[in-house]
Amino acid sequence: MDYPTFPADCRSMLCRFLTPEVFDALRGVQTSNGFTLEQAIRSGVENPDSSIGVYAGDGESYILYAALFDPIIEAYHGFHPSDTHRSDLDPGRLNAPNPDPEGEFILSTRIRVGRNVAGFPLGPAITREQRDEIETRVAAGLETLTDDLAGRYYPLTGMSPETQRALIEDHFLFKEGDRFLESAGLNRDWPSGRGLYHNHDKTFLVWVNEEDQMRIISMQPGGDIAAVFRRLVRAVRAIESRVPFARSAHLGYLTSCPTNLGTAMRASVHIALPKLAEDYERFEAICAKHHLQIRGIHGEHSESVGGVYDISNRRRLGVTEVEAAQEMVEGVVELIAEEKHLR
Ligand code: ARG
Repeated sequence: MDYPTFPADCRSMLCRFLTPEVFDALRGVQTSNGFTLEQAIRSGVENPDSSIGVYAGDGESYILYAALFDPIIEAYHGFHPSDTHRSDLDPGRLNAPNPDPEGEFILSTRIRVGRNVAGFPLGPAITREQRDEIETRVAAGLETLTDDLAGRYYPLTGMSPETQRALIEDHFLFKEGDRFLESAGLNRDWPSGRGLYHNHDKTFLVWVNEEDQMRIISMQPGGDIAAVFRRLVRAVRAIESRVPFARSAHLGYLTSCPTNLGTAMRASVHIALPKLAEDYERFEAICAKHHLQIRGIHGEHSESVGGVYDISNRRRLGVTEVEAAQEMVEGVVELIAEEKHLR
């Protein structure tokens, strides 16, 4: 493979950091799972409108291709290669009284973490057999959960299109990966090995073999962020005792996309801010100050509907889980104060 050509207006981190020197130093290198630089960058080469543009095939990718991954990780998370990542999953240290006790702004709260299974390649490099084995192990582990975490695993294979559509619309299920995931190899063998676990109340869910092998999700209507975090932590600990997670001392939980490393946690609310959204620059400035990301309510690359936004922490590595959630709480408190002031 030759040095890829990027369009002149390309703004992805891949085209920023993949210099010809880095490319020459890393071409021809493979991880022990046979994952190459060409595979790591394919998504960003095929999709020059990527914001990031790279994926890892295994934990080793982050080491062997550090000349490319490290500057991307630093630009996204503000995490320098000499920094250390710490985890803190103690809900007692999160200060999160409901920022919207009257229920005027926050429609729902959702906190997810990404996890992958220790001893397997990540999704971009996994084989069909390995993916199916992970599904079997994860589903079996999940089906032994008890109390409010008890539920059932629903494989995507054989699920009716109507059921699938309804679950996606209610934000419970993922759809087949977009062109970014497609180019990363994460849609291979779709829908084999993929599925969804949920408890009876649908407040605890696990996506199996989407972008990561597990996306562990706690969600409920309203703004009781502390309750959502407490349930997430209980679920993560229960699953960890059944399925060992892939982790590195330096980068925390290993994920296929470098934006998810570390805590692999995205703490979000769906929040109505119709007045503030009219002054979009101000809205963006408040979010930037608190390191928050603004998304539409139907997934990552969607638009806002009716002034409702998905607001979440942007940084996941170099902050603890408690700090990342706290950042979101504080930003949301300020956003609500501003919206109240404007109306
Ligand atoms: N690869 C895509 C891009 O670079 C998504 C990056 C972050 N999102 C994610 N789901 N990992 O734009």
